[in-house]
Amino acid sequence: MKLTEKRQEFLNHVYSKFEVGSEISKSDVDSVMSEMGIAHPYWFTDNFRTGRSLYKIPSLDEFAMEEGSSSSICETHKISPAILAEKASEIPETAANLMMVTDVEKMIPDKFDGFVPWGHFKDIKNIIKSKIFYPIFVTGLSGNGKTLNVSQACAELNRECVRVNVTIETDEDDLIGGFRLVNGETKFNLGPVAQAMEKGAVLLLDEIDLASNKIMCLQPVLEGNGIYIKKINRYIKPAKGFTVIATANTKGKGSDDGRFIGTNILNEAFLERFPVTMEQPYPATATEKKIVLGSMEKYGKVDEKFATKLVTWAEVIRKSFYDGAVDELISTRRLDHIVKAFAIFGDRMKAIELCVNRFDEDTKASFMDLYSKVDEDVVVPSEPTEETISEEESNIPF
Ligand SMILES: Nc1ncnc2c1ncn2[C@@H]1O[C@H](COP(=O)(O)OP(=O)(O)OP(=O)(O)O)[C@@H](O)[C@H]1O
Ligand SMILES: [Mg+2]
Repeated sequence: MKLTEKRQEFLNHVYSKFEVGSEISKSDVDSVMSEMGIAHPYWFTDNFRTGRSLYKIPSLDEFAMEEGSSSSICETHKISPAILAEKASEIPETAANLMMVTDVEKMIPDKFDGFVPWGHFKDIKNIIKSKIFYPIFVTGLSGNGKTLNVSQACAELNRECVRVNVTIETDEDDLIGGFRLVNGETKFNLGPVAQAMEKGAVLLLDEIDLASNKIMCLQPVLEGNGIYIKKINRYIKPAKGFTVIATANTKGKGSDDGRFIGTNILNEAFLERFPVTMEQPYPATATEKKIVLGSMEKYGKVDEKFATKLVTWAEVIRKSFYDGAVDELISTRRLDHIVKAFAIFGDRMKAIELCVNRFDEDTKASFMDLYSKVDEDVVVPSEPTEETISEEESNIPF
């Protein structure tokens, strides 16, 4: 093993016991020496001494700088500092620039215009606020605000949120990090999980039930432990505030009714690492009306009567769905789509039709029929209407 590797091994051991940047005493150094069975690390006690028998634990970058500093390079390469200064550009690459500098995007989510807090929102917010590491598994049908709840809790608390959209392809390289080609050089790029850990951010593992067993690399992360990245010989310790929130349409046991194709059965030991599971239903009508009115305000077309009709219609459909009478339902997200279509076309039935076209013919017909029963002012078109467009209309410049 090379000298630098031996030193890094020593540091990794130190990192696993103490915080980077903190001070340790001589007896701490002695205990690391005896645990590792090594001789006195003079390079460490000489270079990082801060006081009498006190030493500062350097970050990996500080260590790399020290390793690459003139004294040690001169010693190793037997060259004078003057020549070294001239040859500065030829100094071999250190661990410091093995890492790629990632453009850290703005990680505090934006406030969502029209967000209505309800249900588990308060609990999620309290958990994030506590800065206690406490992984949560949020499960519920599609489009009821699971993801939004987490991002808005972070937005309100001004906390960073690293969102990872998990797919069947997601693996250790995507999550923890891997080498990327940057300007013809290979650099290690820390993945979102490692970045969230270092920043003490909230890690949002969205749609976790789409994952394969490659996400088992998150096992130590879910236990609140650090992770050792072999490829760069670096230990990542979770900073205070780091926690994990996973969302899913299932409970990680697959989807019996086939509604959520692509969801997988998650490893039992993985699921066991989430202390709490929150079941998120669709909001009650009064809450959903506030959400719909918020969307209407946002898109600039408020119609309170339409809002009431829409949420009543959605509720009736959901009841039929739970009773097994229909196979589909209207989510809060779809209500938002309808409101947007209404703001654009100004026609209630057209907005509904466009947004329920995605369902099969029978379901679509029954949903539209149901709406006409809820809202006596609209007429369901019996045949698909083929509107003729006047020449004037079709020549609208764009
Ligand atoms: N509390 C809320 N306040 C305002 N709008 C909401 C709220 N909850 C849901 N919505 C609307 O529903 C949309 C869908 O929310 P979100 O993406 O969080 O659903 P989800 O449960 O994560 O869905 P999926 O399971 O498909 O990922 C939002 O973009 C928003 O328009
Ligand atoms: Mg979601």
